Amino acid sequence: MNSSEISNLPTSANEQSLDPRDWDELRRLGHRMVEDMMDYLQTVRERPAWEKAPELILQELRQPLPQEPQDAASVYEDFTRQVLPYNCNNIHPRFWAWVQGGGTPFGMLADMLASGMNPNLAIGDHVPMYVEQQVIDWSKDIFGFPRTASGILTSGASIANITALIVARNHFHTSIKQQGLRSVPGQLKVYGSSETHNCVAKGVEVIGIGSDNFRKAPVDENYRVQTAVLREMIREDRKAGYLPFCIIGNAGTVNTGATDDLSELARIAKEEHLWFHIDGAFGAIPKLLPEFAETLKGIEEADSLSFDFHKWMYMNYEVGCLLVRDAAAHRAAFSTEVNYLARHDRGLAAGPDPFSHYGMELSRGFKALKVWMLLKEHGVQRYGQQVRKNLEQASYLAELVRRHARLQLLAEVSLNIVCYRYNPGTIDETGLDALNKELLIRLHEEGIALPSFTLLNGKYTIRVAITNHRSTRADFDLLVEACIRIGDYLYAGNALLGKYGASPA
Ligand SMILES: Cc1ncc(COP(=O)(O)O)c(C=O)c1O
Repeated sequence: MNSSEISNLPTSANEQSLDPRDWDELRRLGHRMVEDMMDYLQTVRERPAWEKAPELILQELRQPLPQEPQDAASVYEDFTRQVLPYNCNNIHPRFWAWVQGGGTPFGMLADMLASGMNPNLAIGDHVPMYVEQQVIDWSKDIFGFPRTASGILTSGASIANITALIVARNHFHTSIKQQGLRSVPGQLKVYGSSETHNCVAKGVEVIGIGSDNFRKAPVDENYRVQTAVLREMIREDRKAGYLPFCIIGNAGTVNTGATDDLSELARIAKEEHLWFHIDGAFGAIPKLLPEFAETLKGIEEADSLSFDFHKWMYMNYEVGCLLVRDAAAHRAAFSTEVNYLARHDRGLAAGPDPFSHYGMELSRGFKALKVWMLLKEHGVQRYGQQVRKNLEQASYLAELVRRHARLQLLAEVSLNIVCYRYNPGTIDETGLDALNKELLIRLHEEGIALPSFTLLNGKYTIRVAITNHRSTRADFDLLVEACIRIGDYLYAGNALLGKYGASPA
């Protein structure tokens, strides 16, 4: 076939890309999407805190695998009708469930830019790799880690914690990486407190150590680990032939926001030659505030630290971070030399040390961009002010609870978490649990506010975790009013029936 015959070949449908046929049309749709999302965020306060999706919508969502194309505008219509109104709503000013930040409009735009560029941040000589490096260097500055430390952005603190456990485990015995756990002469043990987040136990399970070997020391009345007991556990285990290798400290426990004595844990780890990791998912962030220097003393001594940007730095989901003091130990745990990933001196395969040498993932999105843009947009000073505002709001809410005769504070407020319940004083514990559970569900279903719950000393507890830059004091006034109204209603309605073990007054 000569060249003119080749050029006369019909264009194959296979040569068409997935890019739009009509760019102008998609551009207009894109502008509309941005406008709609800006409206959506700007007016979030005017909508209920939560709305359950109607069964009809859930039915509509269940559709067969699309075979034929649908035009983008009508796909967007499906989104606005079926998806958008039924968010988990951590963007709402009265969302205080679990520990979830609310994101920002500029963060949303940053995610759009990251997605448009669509780089993979595993390897290569491209600026997104340097942006993540920069973000990690800034993180080291925030937490007092040396610039020689290493780090990696993760989907969240769970993966950051597991990554740290793998580094600690492999650092303990270098044979483990290649020969597995059977190459060590005994059972490895991890130490933490009974309040340590469940993702750590999960991590201990998935890295082959088994959660029975996560020794949980008891906590004191303020939910801080009893360090003397933890030290004793390590010594007893060593005597019994076990192999202690890691201590996990809590900077902000998920239940109450308690922070362990991190300096003392660092000392124990040093004396016992153990890796010291801190789970600071949200509770490490007040390091931005000088008044927390004492509480968080010890962070800068940790071997590794996990924290989230998407919780108390209010960044858009998802982005967490792990910092590791000993970069060589971090790299040794994950690096593998394979031909197709070998770094070149020049060209696209050159550039920074691949992030794939510092974690499990070989496909990594550009979450660094929003962190880079948002830290520039606000500066750490403004983040500090927001964190301080949330801390003041937690104290304010605790004070409202203390002042109200039928509300009971269930834990001292040491950070941003307020745990309380409705308690008229004449109901037994089982009744209080049932009443408070119903109260919480009604708060959600009436769209008033979104606290979550926990069990403290076996008591069902309404838990308000404040990592919300949109909340104001008035939002907490509204929450308390609603708790009293709903609590009184449930109590009055049920006390007469003798439900909840109440003795009618
Ligand atoms: C103390 C603590 N650690 C770890 C995690 C898990 O973090 P992520 O959800 O980012 O994986 C949480 C989540 O709330 C937490 O509060």
